[in-house]
Amino acid sequence: MGDIAKLSAGGADFEYPVIKGSVGPDVIDIRKLYGQTGMFTYDPGFTSTAACESALTFIDGDEGVLLHRGYAIGELAEHSTFMETSYLLLNGELPNQAQLDDFTRTISRHTMLHEQLATFYRGFRRDAHPMAIMCGVVGALSAFYHDSTDIADPVHRKISSHRLIAKMPTIAAMAYKYSVGQPFVYPDNSLSYTGNFLRMTFGVPAENYEVNPVVERALDRIFILHADHEQNASTSTVRLAGSSGANPFACIAAGIACLWGPAHGGANEAALNMLHEIGTPDRIPHYIERARDKNDPFRLMGFGHRVYKNYDPRATVMQQTVREVFTALKVSDPVFEVALQLEEMALNDPYFMEKKLFPNVDFYSGVILSAIGFPTTMFTVLFALARTVGWVAQWNEMISDPGQKIGRPRQLYTGPANRSYVPLTKR
Ligand code: ACO
Repeated sequence: MGDIAKLSAGGADFEYPVIKGSVGPDVIDIRKLYGQTGMFTYDPGFTSTAACESALTFIDGDEGVLLHRGYAIGELAEHSTFMETSYLLLNGELPNQAQLDDFTRTISRHTMLHEQLATFYRGFRRDAHPMAIMCGVVGALSAFYHDSTDIADPVHRKISSHRLIAKMPTIAAMAYKYSVGQPFVYPDNSLSYTGNFLRMTFGVPAENYEVNPVVERALDRIFILHADHEQNASTSTVRLAGSSGANPFACIAAGIACLWGPAHGGANEAALNMLHEIGTPDRIPHYIERARDKNDPFRLMGFGHRVYKNYDPRATVMQQTVREVFTALKVSDPVFEVALQLEEMALNDPYFMEKKLFPNVDFYSGVILSAIGFPTTMFTVLFALARTVGWVAQWNEMISDPGQKIGRPRQLYTGPANRSYVPLTKR
């Protein structure tokens, strides 16, 4: 018999099974709690609640560990490609060469968009935020690809998953092109997933576009770093939307909407703005002082994380990648020097040490993306592009789980109890 957790409530004792995962905290199985005690648990923000079983991603925030299917993110970023990591997330194992070639070929066969979608783009205002376009266009995919929306059919699920991963770079690049008034660039399937995206974003029909291999590798690595991150807000949104049986295109559109928020996908833009505002290393102590001041709402953007209470392992890779990109593009942006010195000072500051505030993935990503040439409005779009594989893998895992139920949280009601209707003339 496994461990049990005991609870005394309302004068009675109850026992609940403790379930063990492969690594990480055990969970108390409270599914019978309401039936037995008539009480709910209260956990706004789900800080202590596991809402599902998952074999995809493991995070140990205290140790700064992030594993996909058991492989450390640092190793994947160094040795793998985004296509290979995508295969791993979707299928559970690293592919052999033939499997990788087959997967890459399948994804590249789905990169084009239905031609009518170009007309759909033209309905947006030119100054629309690209994330607004992403929400709309991805949601609309189910209107264009309804031949793969039967979620009970595993073949439909596979095709829609491949379509989403393959078409996201095309959709994202078109959102950018539309905002700058340039013609859409069709995919070129002779290029890599990331090289193709760079060409569709920065290429123009009038000129040949040469993919810079260092930039291609750096962006591919950024995609790997953002591919999945366990049950974060947008992933939980995708799962919740999917739990009702909604089609995958609609579910991923819901995830994109959630990711848009500044507390989730928008932090790298805020971090970059802050580095620009600081401007020169001599001004860093003033900003550190402000971050420590309880009466000042200022926070060091790109520092701290709900789960990581140690160095975010993705930030380490990001820092190396900035150096490579800056060297390859011969960029010497003073914000990088500000970032390096700010990091060093903060890491040695008692306030940040005591509160376990370390750089997160967003601290350096804005610096790199802006050096590559992306406007800040595209930062969250790139995050959405990469996270699509995680969302799709999590959605598939949920749909194939026989124990899956519609997500339906309960509440602690604090409004008025039952009262009689008061006629309008008596109010
Ligand atoms: N600068 C200064 N102080 C900070 C910072 C920061 N960046 N982050 C947290 N603190 C302080 C808080 O003021 C609080 O102090 P207190 O205990 O004296 O009240 C303490 O550290 C704990 O902070 P919380 O906000 O309670 O921690 P939580 O886990 O809820 O927040 C969060 C995590 C939102 C990421 C926070 O660290 C933050 O606002 N960081 C800046 C924004 C940012 O970089 N977000 C990106 C996250 S990564 C991602 O989403 C991909």
